Amino acid sequence: MCPKVNNPFALKPFVSKDLFCDRDAEVELLIGYLFGGSDVTLISPRRMGKTGLIMRTFEEIKERRSDVLTFYVDIMNTRTIDDFNRKLMESVVAVLKKENIVNRFIKFISGLRPSISYDPLTAEPQVSLVYRDDLEKEMTIDMIFRFLKDLDREIVIAIDEFQQIREYPGVRMEAVLRSYIQHLNNIHFIFCGSRKHLMVEMFTDARRPFYESTSFLSLKKIPEDIYREFIICQFRSKGRDISDEAVGMILSWTRRHTFYVQKLCHTIFNIQHRYHDRNDVLLAINLIFDEYEDRFFEIRNLITPAQWNFLKAVANEGTTDHPMAKDFLMKYKIGTPANAQRCLASLLEKELLLATPHSEGTTYSVYNVFLSRWFERC
Ligand SMILES: Nc1ncnc2c1ncn2[C@@H]1O[C@H](COP(=O)(O)OP(=O)(O)OP(=O)(O)O)[C@@H](O)[C@H]1O
Ligand SMILES: [Mg+2]
Repeated sequence: MCPKVNNPFALKPFVSKDLFCDRDAEVELLIGYLFGGSDVTLISPRRMGKTGLIMRTFEEIKERRSDVLTFYVDIMNTRTIDDFNRKLMESVVAVLKKENIVNRFIKFISGLRPSISYDPLTAEPQVSLVYRDDLEKEMTIDMIFRFLKDLDREIVIAIDEFQQIREYPGVRMEAVLRSYIQHLNNIHFIFCGSRKHLMVEMFTDARRPFYESTSFLSLKKIPEDIYREFIICQFRSKGRDISDEAVGMILSWTRRHTFYVQKLCHTIFNIQHRYHDRNDVLLAINLIFDEYEDRFFEIRNLITPAQWNFLKAVANEGTTDHPMAKDFLMKYKIGTPANAQRCLASLLEKELLLATPHSEGTTYSVYNVFLSRWFERC
């Protein structure tokens, strides 16, 4: 028999409040914006906790106002407007089914001849739509939102990885979406994404449809003292203890980037000791390297040796504000500034390097903290 899952460090975006660290201020901010009448753009680097925050906020909204309907639409893997429609409709059908109003919806959109089935294992809806022409694709979006508007209930819709709509061929998706949603007074939107420059451009460029249409929330790291206390409490909740030194190591080694903190703590917890000290942290780090090493070699196979070398150079510095500086190029034998510029651009595009702008410039680091730490050890 498999043991009951009891690791208090979750590796999923949101499991339950007792496994979720903080974000109280962000939840209040989001609720305040949404119900104050402002849609929200939520951005952060990957794995920082955007999806978890959305789920936690939805739970809080439901606790305070059970009449509000919340929809989560992840469009990460969508490539076309058809994919978008399918994802949106699947999310809508799933929620309306729980509310026992799905039949009304299906009748409303029957002109679009949707075929809806439910996964026998998960009960998740699967929608398929066949369009007569391109206009019908846009009409589908219009009809879904019109139905939700006419429900006359407060609704929150979170669209995750929103920058993806820029990629759809043959349609000005930003303009299409904006035109259908801008007069929906009962529907509040969270537009969420990790590709900061694309997201910021969509909402701050005066030539784009979503210009200045939302409030911004940029999700930061969880404060050190709060994460420290959470880690200690989570171990204690299972009758374990952990030394202050070990907690300090965890927070600094992971750079307090949420997923990496959770994964390291999760791995330490799997070591069956009642008291965890620095040796368990070191052991867990080795276990993580063993687990991830194949993936790191896979990355190496997907980029050029020069890019790999550049990545390693940044990792060895920890972070750098000057990846074009002469001494940096010399120290790591990177070659000409033009070579370095090409590597930098490509690694940023591939999300292997992370650029963090600040008041005096930009700091670059290896995006994946485990990869960065692994390079340091090589
Ligand atoms: N507040 C939190 N408390 C505990 N763990 C968290 C918290 N927020 C996030 N996590 C952990 O971090 C991981 C990444 O979070 P999440 O998926 O929400 O990030 P994301 O910003 O949406 O990432 P991506 O951009 O890759 O979609 C989660 O799987 C979970 O393990
Ligand atoms: Mg996410």
